[in-house]
Amino acid sequence: MKMSGTGFFVRMVGVCLVIAGLAACSGGGSSSSGTGSSGTVAGVVKDAASGAPLAGVTVSDGTATATTDATGHFSLARQPGSYTLTASAAGYEATSRCCSVAAGSCTTIDWYLTAAHAAYQNYDNVAPSQQIPAAGMNYVILAWNDLGMHCAQDDYSHFMILPPFNTLHAQVFKRGEGVVTSGVTVSYAFPNKTDSTLHTNFWNYTSRYQFRSYGWNTTPNRGITGTPLAGTMSRDANGIGFVATGIPITPYDDNGTWDPYGKATITVTDNSSGAVLATTSVVAPISTELNCSNCHGATNTFLNILQSHDTNSGTHLVADRANGTLHLCAECHGDNALGLSGKPGVKNLSLAMHGFHQDKVNVSADPNTPDCYNCHPGPQTRCLRGEMYHVGKECKDCHGDLAAMTAGLTAGRQPWLQEPRCADCHDAKHQENPNTLYRNSRFMNSPASEMNGKIYCEACHNSTHAEYTSTNPADNGIPMQLQGDTYWIWNCYVCHNDYMPMPSMHQ
Ligand code: HEC
Ligand code: HEC
Ligand code: HEC
Ligand code: HEC
Ligand code: HEC
Ligand code: HEC
Ligand code: HEC
Repeated sequence: MKMSGTGFFVRMVGVCLVIAGLAACSGGGSSSSGTGSSGTVAGVVKDAASGAPLAGVTVSDGTATATTDATGHFSLARQPGSYTLTASAAGYEATSRCCSVAAGSCTTIDWYLTAAHAAYQNYDNVAPSQQIPAAGMNYVILAWNDLGMHCAQDDYSHFMILPPFNTLHAQVFKRGEGVVTSGVTVSYAFPNKTDSTLHTNFWNYTSRYQFRSYGWNTTPNRGITGTPLAGTMSRDANGIGFVATGIPITPYDDNGTWDPYGKATITVTDNSSGAVLATTSVVAPISTELNCSNCHGATNTFLNILQSHDTNSGTHLVADRANGTLHLCAECHGDNALGLSGKPGVKNLSLAMHGFHQDKVNVSADPNTPDCYNCHPGPQTRCLRGEMYHVGKECKDCHGDLAAMTAGLTAGRQPWLQEPRCADCHDAKHQENPNTLYRNSRFMNSPASEMNGKIYCEACHNSTHAEYTSTNPADNGIPMQLQGDTYWIWNCYVCHNDYMPMPSMHQ
């Protein structure tokens, strides 16, 4: 079976996710309107930074072409089918998107173009040594968190959904030579988060030898996989980078400051000389802003949840707790995030939660606070902050709303293992590896084949929900450190020091 892809969400044809739209489909722009069995693609093209409509932009599928009018509108008649459209204009980065056209109807594709980086134009005139901050470095580190946000609880005295668990990745490059995977030690530490026991009671309930137990045998300040708050990263499964899995940080600094975007310092040391070769710092996002209290009561929220579960589903979770037994939700409801299969016949946790609550999420009239922020962090944390957030995408544009998520899960989507894909919207040149999540995918169509398979997508683009350019400045630290800008890693001199012609990165 395909790991992810068509059929589970609001997918329609091919790999394209079709966002049904109305307004732009009645707009102007150069057009020949769809008649008879043909359909239409229409939309508005805007400047990503200012939101101003752009006139004179070419939108083409390689065969048919339209040009935007003074209000930024375009409209293109096409026969039913799947197309890849490219929008291009002088002074802007061209971008490509997927779309499907159905007979007699109109598909809206709105665009947000990023101004071309000034350096692209000036490259040929400037010596590499004058280029970017990385030009003065022998080694560079690209580091990232795997998911863009990890969720945990402030209180584990009633039940456990997910433990504190954060995963950091790093790749080390010797400029001009390539990926470094041996002869170095890569270590991590959180200068402001050195003692999680100050802020969570997690370890009161995790030792196998204690009365109340979730089943992991772990000592304070070590995560469920044994990983400490500061230590050495291991070689990753593909042997091209380093990873620390399941670091048990909390959103609170030692001094009590709430910071769900706390930073880890990454240090690369030469094993033979002991010299520090490179350092950087990277966000390890974690939040406990679950907001179950929106509906389950501001006080005794978790007790209320257990009571509700007992009443509705015939369990004895409140009595068990009184008798000293605490439950992991995943004991009964399978959860791929923890690798636990649950009890046969009981819904998986994602289906139970999203399905049961799909008609109960009515408290977020604020258009800036999607429904999902009732339980995912949240109006304060604002975990959705990446490049796609800049261009107006919400959770439901990629995941579907609660009803669509429930339908997809009921139809068999594997939670956590089958997720949306960049290629749902972007073109085939910018897709994940087959049957592989974005976070595990590697770059395969570089300007030079020597690079293929050696760089993770997330190394250059950062994690989902926080893709460069993130609206949270903390996330953009690494491109700032190396390129002097907040874009995705686009500058060849980040890793090279000899003259590089500048074709686009994805060929
Ligand atoms: C070495 C850095 C690097 C790596 C690794 C990388 N990208 Fe990119 N990516 C870029 C740059 C630079 C651009 C913009 C120019 C271009 O398209 O080549 C870009 C553009 C994109 C875009 C926007 C497409 C558009 O039409 O504007 C998507 C989507 C994307 N990449 C996905 C991926 C995926 C998926 C992977 C892994 C399979 C990946 N990238 C790996 C550097 C990288
Ligand atoms: C729901 C559709 C959607 C999905 C899914 C999506 N994107 Fe995008 N992305 C957009 C839109 C819209 C833009 C704005 C540019 C445009 O209009 O084409 C954009 C822009 C970008 C850009 C900036 C390109 C430029 O030159 O301005 C990058 C980089 C990018 N996306 C990367 C990704 C990555 C990586 C993923 C997967 C983790 C992804 N996108 C998934 C819709 C999407
Ligand atoms: C938008 C409102 C809302 C939010 C937010 C919310 N719930 Fe609920 N939940 C409800 C309602 C309404 C019920 C049904 C109450 C009843 O019948 O006792 C319920 C019931 C439940 C049940 C019992 C289900 C059953 O049938 O056994 C569980 C478990 C539950 N919620 C967990 C949670 C958790 C965990 C969170 C936070 C991550 C949460 N809920 C957030 C509205 C909400
Ligand atoms: C001892 C086993 C057990 C534990 C522990 C447990 N559940 Fe359940 N839960 C069930 C059973 C059995 C049902 C009945 C419906 C089903 O098969 O999912 C249920 C139903 C639900 C439902 C309603 C699903 C629906 O569609 O009606 C939600 C929501 C839910 N559980 C959430 C949770 C959460 C959150 C936790 C942890 C706080 C939890 N459960 C812990 C066994 C358990
Ligand atoms: C631009 C598309 C896009 C948007 C918008 C988006 N997501 Fe995601 N989401 C993804 C992709 C892609 C993945 C899979 C990441 C991977 O491959 O590891 C994902 C995965 C997840 C996961 C599983 C954990 C993980 O990161 O793999 C959760 C939970 C999640 N998203 C919640 C949300 C919520 C809540 C929102 C809105 C606040 C949201 N997403 C908005 C694309 C999106
Ligand atoms: C009532 C609370 C609640 C609401 C509302 C909610 N979620 Fe979740 N969601 C959860 C919980 C709890 C988990 C963790 C389940 C687990 O550990 O497997 C989760 C996990 C997920 C995952 C990862 C598992 C999977 O299915 O792949 C995704 C993706 C996700 N949510 C997306 C969304 C989106 C998108 C929305 C809004 C349309 C949303 N959620 C609204 C409670 C909620
Ligand atoms: C994130 C780091 C990174 C970036 C950015 C990057 N490269 Fe590379 N490049 C590599 C790695 C790793 C290799 C493989 C070296 C090896 O053989 O181990 C490589 C190899 C090459 C080679 C083969 C010859 C050589 O020097 O090894 C060429 C040519 C090349 N890259 C061109 C480019 C161009 C052009 C760009 C910008 C569009 C670029 N690279 C951006 C990491 C990078």
